[in-house]
Amino acid sequence: MKSVHTSVREQFSQHAEYYAQSSAHAQGDTLEVILEFADPKSTDKTLDIATGTGFTAFALAPKVSDVVATDLTPEMVAKAAELAQEQDIINVMFSVAAAESLPFATASFDLVTCRLAPHHFQDVPKFLSEVHRVLRKEGLFCLVDSVSPESQELITWQNRVEKLRDDSHVFGYPPSQWDKMIEDAGFEIEKTAHTRNAQMSFLWWVRPQKNPTEIVQEIRDAFAMLSPDDAREHYTVEHTDDDFYFSWPMYAVRARRR
Ligand SMILES: C[S@@+](CC[C@H](N)C(=O)[O-])C[C@H]1O[C@@H](n2cnc3c(N)ncnc32)[C@H](O)[C@@H]1O
Repeated sequence: MKSVHTSVREQFSQHAEYYAQSSAHAQGDTLEVILEFADPKSTDKTLDIATGTGFTAFALAPKVSDVVATDLTPEMVAKAAELAQEQDIINVMFSVAAAESLPFATASFDLVTCRLAPHHFQDVPKFLSEVHRVLRKEGLFCLVDSVSPESQELITWQNRVEKLRDDSHVFGYPPSQWDKMIEDAGFEIEKTAHTRNAQMSFLWWVRPQKNPTEIVQEIRDAFAMLSPDDAREHYTVEHTDDDFYFSWPMYAVRARRR
């Protein structure tokens, strides 16, 4: 069976250009929230994990001492490095690394960020233990990711739908499980927020050019099976003539390393 890391690399190596141009990733509430939670200081040695094409790292760079931007997919790191050069950003360094095995010394960062990525991680507790190890005591960890609602039925529904569309999706935990995993890893949670990504067109999101027609239909059927209340309340579903728009719930956490 294909490893999770192989699926992730296969998926993201083809999409570096798409991510670099994606306004859904470049902008929006999740970037604002992580910047606000990080409260960056000019002395902060910062690590951005699963940086993709670098949106979070580049937003932090002018406000901190320096940023190490890491990602599992070499093509994403290469695109991020190219963009940093184009934008004359000189205090961001790049490294290909798995979130679950960080090639950095213990207590070497003041601030660690991770945005829109842990739902692809093979082992979230291992990732959190690595964040804890590389942060200095009292250092800050800021996370934003898509999450499931708290009901078991919707946890199962959402993860099935995400996995059908994208094989590199591993698991979107509900906020209560994030809180527990973060506290169990040795952090004190200081602040949390619920947010959402922007409304997305189903026909765009489902990637019909990549996913076979029967998979697209299976995902469409899964959305049709949601109760009207769940569709509206948890996924902000709005129907148009030949499409529908929806969003995923997102969760932000600011946690202090004990
Ligand atoms: C949606 S993109 C990241 C977006 C980025 N953090 C931002 O703020 O724009 C998800 C990234 O997670 C990376 N990724 C997935 N699994 C990973 C892992 N186990 N370790 C490190 N990076 C990983 C992928 O290669 C991809 O670049």
